[in-house]
Amino acid sequence: MPRPRLIMDRPSDEGYPDVEGYVPIGMERKKMHLPKVDEPELIRHYIGLSRDNFGTDNGPYPLGSCTMKHNPKYADRLASLPEVTRMHPWMDDGYTQGCLEIMHRMEMALRCISGMDAISLQPSAGAHGEYTSMLMVRAYHSSRNEERDEVIVPDSAHGTNPASAAMAGFKVVEVPSAEDGCVDLGALEAALCPRTAALMLTNPNTLGIFERRVKELAEMVHSCGALLYYDGANLNAIMGRSNPAAMGFDMVHFNLHKTFATPHGGGGPGSGPVGVRSFLEPFLPIPRIAYDGETFTLDWAHPQSIGKVSSNLGNFAVILRAYAYILRQGGDGLKGCSERAVLNANYLKHRIEKYYDVPFSDPRKHEFVASAARLKKEKGIRALDVAKRMIDYNIHPPTIYFPSLVEEALMIEPTEDESLESLERIADALITIAHEDPAVVLAAPENTPVGRVDEAKAAKDAILSYRRLHAIRGV
Ligand SMILES: Cc1ncc(COP(=O)(O)O)c(C=O)c1O
Repeated sequence: MPRPRLIMDRPSDEGYPDVEGYVPIGMERKKMHLPKVDEPELIRHYIGLSRDNFGTDNGPYPLGSCTMKHNPKYADRLASLPEVTRMHPWMDDGYTQGCLEIMHRMEMALRCISGMDAISLQPSAGAHGEYTSMLMVRAYHSSRNEERDEVIVPDSAHGTNPASAAMAGFKVVEVPSAEDGCVDLGALEAALCPRTAALMLTNPNTLGIFERRVKELAEMVHSCGALLYYDGANLNAIMGRSNPAAMGFDMVHFNLHKTFATPHGGGGPGSGPVGVRSFLEPFLPIPRIAYDGETFTLDWAHPQSIGKVSSNLGNFAVILRAYAYILRQGGDGLKGCSERAVLNANYLKHRIEKYYDVPFSDPRKHEFVASAARLKKEKGIRALDVAKRMIDYNIHPPTIYFPSLVEEALMIEPTEDESLESLERIADALITIAHEDPAVVLAAPENTPVGRVDEAKAAKDAILSYRRLHAIRGV
């Protein structure tokens, strides 16, 4: 049999492969504009970039709402095995039995942790899991010929919640928080109506406060015929102690890249599986992974499914890391993680609350939101300035200005991975900053390669490829 023709078989006069006939007309590039550098320079460039960056391997990373845990190296090693990296998602089932088994087992683990009856691993991020769930909410109500076009979201919700509901075609109805930081049940009662399709809730909420009346709230939502959706981004606070099914939720998304210690940041790589109670199972994305006791196969025969939400079965390298983490921790280990995460957050809160106000009631779960409002009033130091100064102490800044119901918010989540010494370092830095000369804090960071950047410009005009840099600078 003749060998298939390869592009490299026919180098052109210029030394470039002759791509004629292989690349669609109009898409060929004659010149690549690749930087001409030798190996030492290339290595220095990337090592330099890694030094300019800050990750969980550099220092404490108490970025509220993001659960920046340590990413265990055993999980990275597993995910880099050739048995994993050489797999291709389009391989025939006969070659992928091991991967399918891992995913099937991961589904079982997530069922056990959440109390849900069925799982899909397809979504690639938390927000993607939310959107997938909202599509299932729509499919469920239309299967019952009910016209429900409103989704209720508390004012403390993560911004992706209303965005996902709106993208799935729902009108978003906001309900305020009461004085204790929990959902105002009176306002919820007034918002619920025959058009309500679902309520999206995270528990503990983004203030780190557990919604104590969650069962009453579930009852209210269900008696109006709507579904209760659990944003599982804060699962690290309760895992092993409670679960969304026990609280009355019908569906949930998980952030594997938070709760189960896999890398994340800058938009990926993530994984946001969804879980549902049995009456919603027909609507889960397809294909589902089926197992007949001997063989794993892909099952497409679910006519009520919302369809595929990912080009393949999910972000396998992330799923594998999370699966390894769950096995390594075991049930008691996971419970220990949530206990320590809550203890660490409350200890840190206790250490700094003389210097920063921490509005709303106690106790907190895995995170808390402090306010720099007093510092701003007395010394002109804003939450942004505190955050920038923390970088000088080699601590990643907390999340700032979220949730918006706290003025000059500093949202702090140390996670269970920080030692007592490390917690003391974070607290000492925050306390020192509160006493520092405002001129120093306002000029921070001073110990970094880049000082204050024009953040709006950086967000709007990101230069992310060499081609774009070349176009702008002509280098
Ligand atoms: C409470 C909450 N919900 C949802 C999300 C969205 O998750 P992702 O960033 O994976 O899309 C986040 C992310 O920080 C979150 O904190």
